[in-house]
Amino acid sequence: MTTSDSLRDEVRRKYAEAAIAVAEGSGCGCGSGVCCEGDGSEDFGTSLYTVEQRVELPDAAALASLGCGNPTAVAELREGDTVLDLGSGGGIDVILSAKRVGPTGTAYGLDMTDEMLALAQRNAREAGIGNAHFLKGVIEQIPLPEDSVDVVISNCVINLSVDKPAVRTEIARVLKPGGRIGISDVVAEDRLTPEERAERGSYVGCIAGALSKGEYEAGLEAAGFEQLSVEFTHRVADGMHGAIVKAVKTRAPEAKGLPVIHAAARAGCC
Ligand SMILES: C[S@@+](CC[C@H](N)C(=O)[O-])C[C@H]1O[C@@H](n2cnc3c(N)ncnc32)[C@H](O)[C@@H]1O
Repeated sequence: MTTSDSLRDEVRRKYAEAAIAVAEGSGCGCGSGVCCEGDGSEDFGTSLYTVEQRVELPDAAALASLGCGNPTAVAELREGDTVLDLGSGGGIDVILSAKRVGPTGTAYGLDMTDEMLALAQRNAREAGIGNAHFLKGVIEQIPLPEDSVDVVISNCVINLSVDKPAVRTEIARVLKPGGRIGISDVVAEDRLTPEERAERGSYVGCIAGALSKGEYEAGLEAAGFEQLSVEFTHRVADGMHGAIVKAVKTRAPEAKGLPVIHAAARAGCC
């Protein structure tokens, strides 16, 4: 087993534990000490949902919120849109998105952890949502056709990916031309080396695998995105922040003279 495989297994195991803790009513996933953690000096992100959004959600969906922001507040969602949430966890952002896009729209949640998928499905049922669908799979190989999604959202998941170039290529593939991304993630200041990021927290705790602002911007640009912004919103550790990442797919990477990276050629993590 490669280091990447074992890291991904560790992530899956930890978030399965978090889902079980919520499903059994033994507290929130964060209480079990396995979610995005920071250095404890700031709230990581669960308080970034408005009171109005909270009342729209079943308790278990709110308790299972393990993100570091509120992508539904930044992504411009329109009636009839198809939205995809990468690493949908207990389903909080899928449920909120499904309500925003209305009955003519669709919200997909993609997650690799069975226990999270079961929790999300239960939460969507409890919320009476009919236009939310949860898919099992990894964000490095999205199980949707190309040009099929209007908006990709994600909440504190891309930092957990062991193959970030593959995630960007996949986002660009599934988005329609003009499609948008509105992502919350942990992002490091450019001054921090990968080793310094790892000193500030664990990989499963959403710290060690975080990209720097410059790496995020360069990666998205190489994948064919424009109108990029990576904006720090709140501190989660020294030199590390919850951030909002926005971009638009205005054209395919080939059109910019950039090589398309195929799955077999993908490697590395930044
Ligand atoms: C920090 S939690 C965030 C969950 C949710 N977005 C939220 O805000 O509550 C990370 C979630 O991403 C999932 N995940 C992590 N890496 C993944 C990957 N490579 N592919 C699919 N899902 C992944 C985990 O199973 C977990 O449910």
